[in-house]
Amino acid sequence: MKETILTGIRPTGNLHLGHFFGACSNWLKLQNSHEFYLEIADVQALTDHFNDPDMVRQNVYELTTDLLSIGINPKKVHIFIQSTIPEIAELTVFYSNLVTMSRLYRNPTVKTEIAQKKALFGNDGESVTYGFVGYPVSQAADITVFKGSLIPVGEDQLPLIEQTREIVRKFNSIYGETLIEPKHFISKTARIKGLDGNEKMGKSLGNAIYLKDDEDTISKKIMSAVTDPNKIKKDDKANPDICMVYYYHKLIENNNLETVCNECKNGTRGCVACKKELIKNMLEFLKPIREKRKYYLDHKEEVESILKEGNIIAQKKAKETMAEIRHNMKIDY
Ligand code: TRP
Repeated sequence: MKETILTGIRPTGNLHLGHFFGACSNWLKLQNSHEFYLEIADVQALTDHFNDPDMVRQNVYELTTDLLSIGINPKKVHIFIQSTIPEIAELTVFYSNLVTMSRLYRNPTVKTEIAQKKALFGNDGESVTYGFVGYPVSQAADITVFKGSLIPVGEDQLPLIEQTREIVRKFNSIYGETLIEPKHFISKTARIKGLDGNEKMGKSLGNAIYLKDDEDTISKKIMSAVTDPNKIKKDDKANPDICMVYYYHKLIENNNLETVCNECKNGTRGCVACKKELIKNMLEFLKPIREKRKYYLDHKEEVESILKEGNIIAQKKAKETMAEIRHNMKIDY
């Protein structure tokens, strides 16, 4: 039997290169060898955006379109919407007994996010809801209801997988061996730097290249990328290791990388020419993705039916696991 993968992504915006290299490129490899459930985590998105249901709904379709455009194959991957699986909500209630409040507050991912909220909305904690603090519990339900054993995610998700493992161990020790303890899987480029040199590319940081960006937008973004600040004139020698343009040349595998590096070091390559070369390569790299994206935008009904099929398969699996769980918890009335 194939090992089962479960991973999820929140529908709060479009995919950018940070997602692509950080997590999605791994998914593309793994889809050929594994039973693969890919969850569009709308319920989780609502823990943060409960007052913006239109945004979440629209992004369910946007994100699915992006995922199909990068080459996620719906014949191999069950793409489904979290809110169509009521068992996840049910299981979240049962798991919430197995987690202490202090453990949730100690979760490094939750801790960072709470600090960000407090910085944004003031320090009184009013913005931190019960649903938000509990989302790792719901994520444990996402993973375990599909018996996911391998979880390919970005680095920031590790504390959530660890929390899931703890819940699984506790559940199994009380109710008998039922759930699978998941392993994580991280790509070697788990975190992608932004064009501005920030350690992370992110929507809120405003430093991302989106897969759907048009040519003009991409060109402008790359022209404003951060280079070695000591290189002022075209023929100044520079250090490519602190240059974001070089970083992206590497990332999308420029086949003249050695030349780029040497010319930069020797002062025989100006930044403008170097950026223009990156623009050309980046547009080429994104071209097949943009073409596929256009296809799915023109065939919205295909996207909808892919999700419908994915939902049905995921619902069946969740029902099976839930029956076992209810039996072992002695609530199978
Ligand atoms: N928390 C993840 C994120 O913010 C999304 C997610 C939801 C997820 N459910 C999951 C990831 C289950 C892995 C497994 O990106």
